[in-house]
This record gives sequence, C-alpha cells and structure tokens, in this order.
Amino acid sequence: MSREARNPVFKTIAILVVFAGSAIVVWAVAPETLPRTHWSLVALAFAASLGAMVTGRAIHLGPAWLVLMAIATPSLVLVPVYRPPIWLFPLAALLLAGFYSNGALEKVPLYLTNTRTRRQLADLLPKANGTKPIFIDLGCGLGGVVSAVARARPDADVIGVETAPLSFILAWLRLTLFGPRNARIRFQSIWHTDVSQADTVYAFLSPAPMARLNEKLRAEMKAGSIFISNSFAVPGAAPDTIIPIDDSRQTQLLIWQM
Ligand SMILES: C[S@@+](CC[C@H](N)C(=O)[O-])C[C@H]1O[C@@H](n2cnc3c(N)ncnc32)[C@H](O)[C@@H]1O
Repeated sequence: MSREARNPVFKTIAILVVFAGSAIVVWAVAPETLPRTHWSLVALAFAASLGAMVTGRAIHLGPAWLVLMAIATPSLVLVPVYRPPIWLFPLAALLLAGFYSNGALEKVPLYLTNTRTRRQLADLLPKANGTKPIFIDLGCGLGGVVSAVARARPDADVIGVETAPLSFILAWLRLTLFGPRNARIRFQSIWHTDVSQADTVYAFLSPAPMARLNEKLRAEMKAGSIFISNSFAVPGAAPDTIIPIDDSRQTQLLIWQM
C-alpha cells in the first residue's frame, strides 16, 4: 500500500509558508546589485515552487497536494507584486472547484492513473464469453482509464462516472469526440452507480470512502466479478490478490474477488 503523509493540510501549509515566504524575503532584501526584472522574480517564484514540490514529495505528500503547491507557491510570491485584477481570484476558485470539488466533498481529489497501470487494468478484465464484459471506473476523472481500457478491449463496454463538473465535461468531450464507441461517461455519483452488471469495478480514490464503498460493492456486485482499488486498502478486508506495477510511485493494484 502506498505511503501517504499524515496531516497533509498542515504539512502543505507549512511548506507553502517556508518556500513562498523565503522567496518574498529574498526579493525584499536582495541587494540592489541583483537584477530586479520580471524574469528574475518569475524565476524566483518558480524555484520556490520547485523546492516546495520536492520537499512535499520527499515527505510523501500525495499528487493532489503537490499540484496545489505547484500552483499556490508562485501565486503567493507573484500576486502581492503584480496585483492582478480582482475577478481572477473567483475565476481561479471556480476552476479549482470544477476539478477538485470532490476533494472537499468526498475527500477524494483528482489525480490520474498512469499508463502502465491502465494497460494492466485492460488485461485484468475477463475475456468476452457470450456477453460483453463490463468495466466501470468509479470517479473517472478526465476519462483516461476509460479511454485506454476501451481502446485496448473493443470486446468490452467501458463506463466512467464522475461528479466534479469540469472533470466530467472534459472526460465527456474527450470520449464523445475522440473516444472509441464502446466507452461512455456519465455525470453520476459513485454512490448512485449500478454496479450489479459489472465484471470489473475500478476505483482510484483515497482512504476516506473505502469502507463505505466496500459495503456497497459487496452488496451489489455479482459473484465472480472483481473490484480493483489502485493503492487504497479496505479497512479490515485483505485483498485476494496484489499486483505490483513497475512504476515510479510503486503502484499496487489491490483486487477483491466477489
Ligand atoms: C484520484 S481521481 C481518479 C481518476 C481516474 N479514475 C484515474 O484513475 O485516472 C478520483 C476521481 O473520483 C472523483 N470522485 C470522487 N468522489 C466521487 C463521487 N462520489 N462520485 C463521482 N466521482 C467522484 C473525483 O472527482 C476524481 O476525479
């Protein structure tokens, strides 16, 4: 199971304060001999951002926190200097909410399954045996898994459900305009998704919803189907199989047989 840092909110704020604060202090007290151009300030802001992300990764903060630091550190350095128009702030908040609303509502932010793992998922879906196998990605993000599995497995029906508005719109457009015909994206909560016909249910969520999700899947999934969780364990229910993926984050696919 992947190592995620405890108290990520506190640690993220501390890292932001240290790196953005240091950059602001360096800018404020740098000797007059140092060039004070737009580019040197931007370089300083992005150096601080890089430092924050490297530190976050070293203490095992998850990808969503690293993305937040990548955006917030340079913003904290540049905003006081350039004072952008006030409407940019609600716009930025709307954009963030469009992709990360489930970070607040469900404690599940957006981060994406990598290419190697997607390939493995397509291989784990059972072969067509009279009827088309069904694969469901619960919380499909930008639709990358749905697209990859549907392309690799034209014999299957592949469905993604998502409720973060902008993630849903991007996934829907991507699959509707460019996706294979056996892929579908629905604006639907994972808690209202019918999984009774699925052969494989996949979820890459967070520790928060796993106990409730396990209850739902145990009650609804048919015998012989499988549930695959990327990285996150179900409390008190050891997986039947663990498949390690040879990638940089040492992904593990945890599999339960229904
Ligand atoms: C970590 S991302 C995984 C995205 C995609 N499955 C992948 O692996 O690339 C989890 C996604 O689940 C979505 N999500 C969280 N709770 C949800 C819910 N109750 N209903 C639908 N989607 C949800 C989030 O918005 C987010 O896009």
